[in-house]
Parts: sequence; C-alpha cells; structure tokens
Amino acid sequence: NCSGNHFTNKSGVILDMSEKKEILTTGKAKSLYTTSDPSKLIMEYRDDTSAFDGKKIEKLAGKGTVNNRFNAFIMEHLESEGVKTHFISQISDIESEVKKLEMLPIECVVRNIAAGSICKRLGLEEGIDIEPPTFEFFYKDDDLGDPMINEYHINSFGWGTEKDVEEMKILTLKVNKILSKLFLQADLILVDFKLEFGRQDGVMYLGDEMTPDGCRVWDKETRKKLDKDRFRQGLGDVIESYQEIASRIGIDLE
Ligand code: ADP
Ligand code: TMP
Repeated sequence: NCSGNHFTNKSGVILDMSEKKEILTTGKAKSLYTTSDPSKLIMEYRDDTSAFDGKKIEKLAGKGTVNNRFNAFIMEHLESEGVKTHFISQISDIESEVKKLEMLPIECVVRNIAAGSICKRLGLEEGIDIEPPTFEFFYKDDDLGDPMINEYHINSFGWGTEKDVEEMKILTLKVNKILSKLFLQADLILVDFKLEFGRQDGVMYLGDEMTPDGCRVWDKETRKKLDKDRFRQGLGDVIESYQEIASRIGIDLE
C-alpha cells in the first residue's frame, strides 16, 4: 500500500511519509532507517526475539506485526494523556515513522509487583505488591549485562543531566499510572516495564517501544504470564499471549 512518499492506511486515508533511505542501526529486535527528512526515522519491528541481553535469540513469526501495532496504540494513548512520544504514525504492518532522537543510554524501570531481577537482587518472593511502585535506572550496555545504576552515575558519567534524571522519573511514573489503569480495565496487571527516552531540539520524548517485549503483564485472576517471560522461561504461546493482551486492551490486530 505504499507508493512514492504516500501511504494509504486501512481507512483509506493518505498519509504523507518520508522516504525510507538507508539502515542506521540494527538492534536486537528492531532496525532503524534514515529518511528523506533528517528529523525522522523509520522503525522496523522484526520477528527477532531476544532475552538475557541477546544470549537467547529466536525468530517468532508475527512478533514484528503485533509489537508494531501494540506500540502504536500505546504511544497514541500516552500522547492523548499528555506524554510526549517520538511516535508519528504507523506506516505498514511492521514499520512506524518516529522522530529521530538522541537517546540516553538509560533504561527506566517501574515495578508494581516483584518479578525478575529485583527478586534475585533483594531476595523477594515473586508476586508480592510493591507499594508505592519502585523505580530503577539501568545502564544500557549488553556487554555489561545492563547493570543497575543510580542517578549520581548518570550525572557523573555524562549520560544525562540532573534535569534529564528528574524528567525521566516523572514521565515513567506518569506512564505507570496511565498504563496500569488501561491494563486493569482489561483485568490485566502491569507488573513492571522499561522505557527509554531521548531528546530532539532540547525536548525530551519517550522513545523506543512499549510492548510485551519490554514489560510484564499478568492476568489479574489467574496471574498467568502473558509477556516476554513466556519466551525467557520457555512457557510457549509467546505470540498468542501478546495477541491476547492486545485484544483485551482493545487493539485491532486485523
Ligand atoms: P536493543 O538496543 O535493545 O538491541 P532494539 O532492537 O529495540 O534494541 O533497537 C532499537 C534501538 O533504537 C535502541 O538502541 C534504541 O535505543 C534506539 N531508538 C529507539 N527509539 C529511537 C529514536 N526515536 N531515535 C533514535 N534511536 C532510537
Ligand atoms: P528485570 O526484572 O529483568 O530487571 O526487568 C524489568 C522490566 O524491564 C521487565 O519488564 C523487562 C524490562 N527490561 C527490558 O525490556 N529490557 C532490559 O534490558 C531490561 C534490563 C529490562
């Protein structure tokens, strides 16, 4: 459905888009392409699925499509609630146009329920409530295993300013409120999630993605895991579970 610099979406609306040029970066799950507009990139969601900082990698058919759609819905919802995001528009099943950001090499994690690394680190039982929700920074470096860091590190090592630190905390906690509510309405618990931020023209935007690859989501009644822990732990039905979350929060995957 693409011709020239125009793309006709499902509703027949013609969108103006920048022309895809060359590959800029290939991450573990997504690829970024430059466009004819230097301020915009095209983000391609691949089927590659990675866990444990790239130590376990598999292609799961359909993941790119479900995550691209999922992310578009979440970013549009966050924008409608006043969070500035890099998302511009979905332009194909596996591609979206985004603002090109200077990313901070930082992962911002909020946890509502204990799971994953915090259980190991602090000896917590999986599933206990964390009240109030807690916040953690990680340094984005696969070779180092994405170590947990504190806000002084961000400042001392030049990864961001004190203002960046404050903005990232406020925005991630705001996203937690907005998304916990959205998920709860579908009888889903947002256990934890990771966000990444970047700047364009001095303005901080939410970048990267918010999909079941970067969060934990459980069914509220059964506490069944529906996120990437199914892949990490070899539980099966990974894509089916991502699709279940999507359809329960009202995302049309057709
Ligand atoms: P990983 O870095 O974990 O291997 P991905 O495969 O998801 O991950 O790659 C996406 C890359 O693109 C990440 O390095 C991420 O920080 C970066 N990124 C995300 N959004 C933007 C953006 N708007 N502008 C520039 N880079 C971005
Ligand atoms: P953790 O329990 O492994 O620290 O992860 C916390 C949340 O952040 C979980 O939802 C997975 C997500 N996350 C990523 O998406 N990528 C990462 O590199 C890390 C460290 C966490």
